[in-house]
Amino acid sequence: MTSPAYLDPTLPTASRVADLLGRMTLPEKVGQMMQMHTYDGVPHLIEELQVGSILHASPERLEQAHALVERTRLRIPLLIGEDCIHGHSFFKGATIFPTQLGMAATFDAALVRRIGRATALEVSTTGIHWTFSPVLCISRDLRWGRVSETFGEDPWLIGELASAMIAGYQGDGLGDRTSILATAKHFAAYSETQGGRDASEADVSRRKLRSWFLPPFERVAREGCRTFMLGYQAIDGVPITVNEWLLNDVLRGEWGYTGKLITDWDNVGNLVREQRLFPDYAQAAAAAVNAGNDMIMTTPAFFRGAQDAVTQGLLEESRIDEAVARILTLKVEMGLFEDRRAADVDRQHEVIASAPHTALNLEAARRSLVLLENDGTLPLGRTRAPRRIAVVGPNADDAAWTLGDWAGSSGQADWLMEGHPREQITTVLDGLRAAAPAGCEVVHARGAEIITTGPDPKGTHFSDGQPRPHIAMPVEPDPAMIADAVEAAREADAVVAVVGDRIELVGEGKSTATLELLGGQVALIDALVATGVPVVLVVLASKPHVLPPSADRAAAVIWAANPGMEGGMAVAELIFGAIEPAGRLPLSWPRHAGQQPLFYNQIAAQHGYRYADLTQQPRWAFGEGLSYTTVEYSNLRLAADQLGLEDSVEATVTVTNTGTRPALETVQAYVRDVHTSATWADRELKAVTQVNVKPGASVDATVRIPVAECSIVTAAGSRVVEPGDFEVLVGPSSRLDQLLVAELSIA
Ligand code: NOJ
Repeated sequence: MTSPAYLDPTLPTASRVADLLGRMTLPEKVGQMMQMHTYDGVPHLIEELQVGSILHASPERLEQAHALVERTRLRIPLLIGEDCIHGHSFFKGATIFPTQLGMAATFDAALVRRIGRATALEVSTTGIHWTFSPVLCISRDLRWGRVSETFGEDPWLIGELASAMIAGYQGDGLGDRTSILATAKHFAAYSETQGGRDASEADVSRRKLRSWFLPPFERVAREGCRTFMLGYQAIDGVPITVNEWLLNDVLRGEWGYTGKLITDWDNVGNLVREQRLFPDYAQAAAAAVNAGNDMIMTTPAFFRGAQDAVTQGLLEESRIDEAVARILTLKVEMGLFEDRRAADVDRQHEVIASAPHTALNLEAARRSLVLLENDGTLPLGRTRAPRRIAVVGPNADDAAWTLGDWAGSSGQADWLMEGHPREQITTVLDGLRAAAPAGCEVVHARGAEIITTGPDPKGTHFSDGQPRPHIAMPVEPDPAMIADAVEAAREADAVVAVVGDRIELVGEGKSTATLELLGGQVALIDALVATGVPVVLVVLASKPHVLPPSADRAAAVIWAANPGMEGGMAVAELIFGAIEPAGRLPLSWPRHAGQQPLFYNQIAAQHGYRYADLTQQPRWAFGEGLSYTTVEYSNLRLAADQLGLEDSVEATVTVTNTGTRPALETVQAYVRDVHTSATWADRELKAVTQVNVKPGASVDATVRIPVAECSIVTAAGSRVVEPGDFEVLVGPSSRLDQLLVAELSIA
């Protein structure tokens, strides 16, 4: 018997796909559009639903799935997806990098690209073809549980870093055995929450979408990101899953996107159950397919629903064929019919947590740390070698939380509940012990707990079958624990207090009402500061938190967004001055939860610059971060100050290191359009360059900004450059008092 045409690798992709499609029954086609989790085992997925893709599969289940596919009629290879978000999250012992928000604090696209590449190398040896990363959501209300998955609050920076990460993941393209498919998610405006609560209706106009939420997505769509994931939310009453305007007119139409669309978890089921747009799954399935979705994540009822929709005349089978053809084309182009890209244990030994990846991880962790305050106490030992350091706080020695959400035991992988190997993770306590100079004693006391948890009174599971997280209840300060910590601090040269949040307060469905440090942490900081011993506050937290008044008397404040496996070492090196602080805030740090949202690029409002009882100024601004030296910016000049629409602005500034230690400066360039036809942000980040400046030296830093990017979105919703007067603002952060200004005219 001759083998069917679709199995012949010498034939063109289109003929192979057409041949295969022609052989498939309706149930096989519908199944091909489905992606299912494997929590309930694998056989029913392959044998009954005939799914085209699986996610959340342990290495064993993955292998079983491939074997079962070999016994099916057409043997169509599976596409395997996983959330490899900051490293290969759920593969035991893989390199876990700082969270995406931590990566953003590096402001370094080249570094993020290298992280993407290293992740792809590791992931591609384990049988996984596709990561659901990066997140291009703009961080808005910080109470949202998923802030740590974002690149922060600036659309330009998000586009820059997302583009780099995708390039790293996708490598040399579909045929590259070391590359994985990237996913731009969650399309679009998922982060525009109500009060920070996850997956609420996004109250956002089309103009606002075009102004800030869509640009990063547009960039990566045009650059060839292979897949897009649709958020849970609805805009103007229309869930994204069926939002024909966004999916067809904008994404596939205006931007010419040819990649694949996948829903988020049970979006189609939610059209029936939560959003209640349709009375049954046949109608929901028809609407989702008609809107252009290719793959339906974890909606088992789609299998019957889509078939019923065809029988009932709600859905043309040709629409299913279009989606299936896109999925099969991808599988053919990836060569999966010839090579499943199954797990390769030999290659795993070479690349998983390899020495170069561990070194890259340490580099990323170092660069992700943001020094926010320093009264000169840091680096420790500048004047006198420390003899004793007290390390206290609930996050000082929490290995799992050093990694953050979407890693090891964070809850999404039922095969890795014990987490990544402890010996691969350096907590802050481990790091300080390892890096302390000879003769310096490191003592430890926990000092405080944060929360306890209990079952959600609403039940154990959501309506889509996902487990409902336990609810968190802050604990009272424990006087005995605080007394122990104070005792440890008393004889010390410095206290390193590591405070923050915990997994139970972070993630999907786990937004917080406040941004305070919960439990016994504030009382602990109060008591430590009262000892008079210098307190180095390390906020090891998924996102910025509101610090108590006593933190103003801390000697130094460092933010370590869950810094990954090497994070504790990086923190210790920073504290002892083995490295220079270089991270910058990718979002504004609040003084009070009531200031939300606080992003720097808001439209100015007449009275909205403050509350009656509180300023609206951030505690620390977007782009801010200290080094161990002092740096001055001077002599901002433009190569030309009269430009046309095709030109680029070229701005140069002199950066002088006036201190005694080296600096890695992140030079930030913002653009202000002086008069606009519609209200607009006062200034927007448009370029960044990083320069090393030795003590006493001056370096000229140059940035280029295409005039085409000095645009606004008009009241009618079109993005245009409006000729006239502009200003280029260059400096070390978004703070107006730190920015030099140059005037420019665009004709
Ligand atoms: C739901 C999350 O919103 C999404 O980000 C993730 O990729 C999928 N679940 C799969 O785990």
